[in-house]
Amino acid sequence: MSAACTWVRAFGERVVLGGVFALLVGWPLFAEPPKADPAEVYRPSLVPDRILLSIPGDPSRTMAVTWRTSTVIEQAWAEITRATAEPLSGSTPRRIPARTERLETDLFEAHYHTVIFEDLAPQTRYAYRVGDGVNWSPWHHFQTASDKPEPFRFLYFGDAQNDIASHWSRVIREAFQTEPRAAFLLHAGDLINRWNRDAEWGEWHAAGGWINGCIPSIAAAGNHEYGGVPPLSSVLTPNWRAQFEFPRNGPEGLHETVYYFDYQAARIVVLNSNLAFQEQATWLESVLRDHDRPWTIVSMHHPIYSARPGRDNPVIRSLWKPLFDRYRVALVLQGHDHSYMRSGLLGESAPDEPIQRQMSGGTVYVISVSGPKMYDLGWQPFTRRAARNTQMYQVIEVAVDKLRFEARMADGRLYDAFHLTRNADGSVQLHDEIPSVPDRR
Ligand SMILES: [Fe+2]
Repeated sequence: MSAACTWVRAFGERVVLGGVFALLVGWPLFAEPPKADPAEVYRPSLVPDRILLSIPGDPSRTMAVTWRTSTVIEQAWAEITRATAEPLSGSTPRRIPARTERLETDLFEAHYHTVIFEDLAPQTRYAYRVGDGVNWSPWHHFQTASDKPEPFRFLYFGDAQNDIASHWSRVIREAFQTEPRAAFLLHAGDLINRWNRDAEWGEWHAAGGWINGCIPSIAAAGNHEYGGVPPLSSVLTPNWRAQFEFPRNGPEGLHETVYYFDYQAARIVVLNSNLAFQEQATWLESVLRDHDRPWTIVSMHHPIYSARPGRDNPVIRSLWKPLFDRYRVALVLQGHDHSYMRSGLLGESAPDEPIQRQMSGGTVYVISVSGPKMYDLGWQPFTRRAARNTQMYQVIEVAVDKLRFEARMADGRLYDAFHLTRNADGSVQLHDEIPSVPDRR
């Protein structure tokens, strides 16, 4: 045997012996890979990212788009044209300058750009892109609402909040696969966990990805969207108004966290259950009273009726629920309790009356969770369907004479369903369609 072969064999034996020794004493054989730095992963660049549509007013005539770049980009535009089958390179889109604002977060300074598309045609598919004239996003499509009360569907999500990139992405993507033509995505608060962490917003935008550029979002602010130094913990996450463009028709000082809009057969009202409850009650009454849409749907973060005792919100219940009763709100979509709970029709009478009485007249209250953080359920007398430890999303279909609701689990399976119709006196009738899936309480 040559000297070289002897050396190689001796070296190999040492490596094997060294490996066995390392395993015995618990030394790692290889160094851990470094963890990706959020300041690198979510750094803004010249290329538009976090592209998001939101509903800024009449959804049959307007649409808003927001996006982010580095602060190098000081002037930006959106271009829009009717979607056609031909390549868009031959089109002559309308170019609209963006409103640009600087946002400083814990990670970086960035520019957020906003364009509101106006004078759009109802029920029309548009193509748009955003950029600075050199660096453009891909072209995206969206569709405006009809100006007639035709049926539509939307998606509703309870709290995403934690481990958003790893555990919430699958839920929004499964929901999109269930309802790819959803009119909008409604987020009932606690979209993120820490109000002042830009990386969490980065995860939220990455989870939705290009879905957010094609289907508009609306959102209610949860307690986790607020922060600050106690007792002044009422600072809204600075990302909110930079990245969303919601209707500015709420009470003074609460714009874009309290608002309403009409979508075909429904008036959608979003409330802020964190503060200024009395002020919102005055505004709410006028918004619920003065409209002719067949259905009113309200969303907010904190539940009027909690999924378990001890998490009640009696102040908003005493101020807002009498208005829901008086003006026949059909459905209230909430979050915060990190479980699923759907009530019967709760009206002016006590919520612990016999379940048969909860089939006619009143409002259905729903709590849901789409992220992975879970709380236990308690027994509540008004619960008709509930689930613990289940990530969910909901599809809601609104037609003039019927409102249909489906709650689906993260794997796409149906867990709960019902529909509402109108009685001759205008009150609501509940029709359960609970599937034969084992109860997950
Ligand atoms: Fe919450």
